Amino acid sequence: MPIHVAESLTHSPQRPDGPVWLFGYGSLIYKVDFPYIECSPAHIVGWKRRFWQGSHDHRGTPQAPGRVLTLVRSPGQRCGGMAYLVAPEVFKHLDVREKNGYLRLSIPLYLANGSQHQGLVYLATEENEAWLGPAPDTELAAHIARSHGPSGPNREYLLHLADALRNMNEHDDHVFALERELLALELEQSQS
Ligand code: SIN
Repeated sequence: MPIHVAESLTHSPQRPDGPVWLFGYGSLIYKVDFPYIECSPAHIVGWKRRFWQGSHDHRGTPQAPGRVLTLVRSPGQRCGGMAYLVAPEVFKHLDVREKNGYLRLSIPLYLANGSQHQGLVYLATEENEAWLGPAPDTELAAHIARSHGPSGPNREYLLHLADALRNMNEHDDHVFALERELLALELEQSQS
C-alpha cells in the first residue's frame, strides 16, 4: 500500500508513548549523540538518500546553506542505515537537532535479524524552506566542498557517512559518487 507522505508527516508530532525504533540514514548513522536501548543495522524500502536538503544550522548558514541528506521516494529501492530503539524523551533532543526542515514519518523498517517494526524516520520534503533539490554530482560535490557550519565542514558529513556505510557493507551509488567527486575536486584544488 502506498504511503501518503503528506498525511503521515507532521510538524509537531506527539512523542511516542513508549520505546520506538528510529531509522537513521545520514548523520544519525555516524553521530550518535543520544542514548538508545538497542541498535541494529536496518533498512527501509521505497526510498533513496539524496543530498537535496539545505543545512542552515549544522553544515552551512542561512546565508550560505550546506547540503545534507533527505529521503526521496524511489519505489522498490532499498535504503540501508542504522536503527535505534529509543525512549520517547530522546525526541526532545532529536527534534531540535533535526529542526531545519525535517519532519517525522512513521515507516516500516527491517532489522538485520529479519524482524519488522513500525518505526520513525526524519525526512525533509520539498515544501520546507531549506530545500535545495537536485543538481549534477559535480555541482553537489563543489557545494559540499565549500560549505561550513556550526557542526563543522560539510565535507565531513559526506566523508564520515561514506566511511560508515562502507563499514556496514552498505553500497550507495549517490553517496559514493559524491565522495569521489569531492576528493577529485580537492586534489585538483591542492595542485593548482
Ligand atoms: C538521518 O540521519 O537519519 C537524518 C538526516 C541527518 O540528520 O543527517
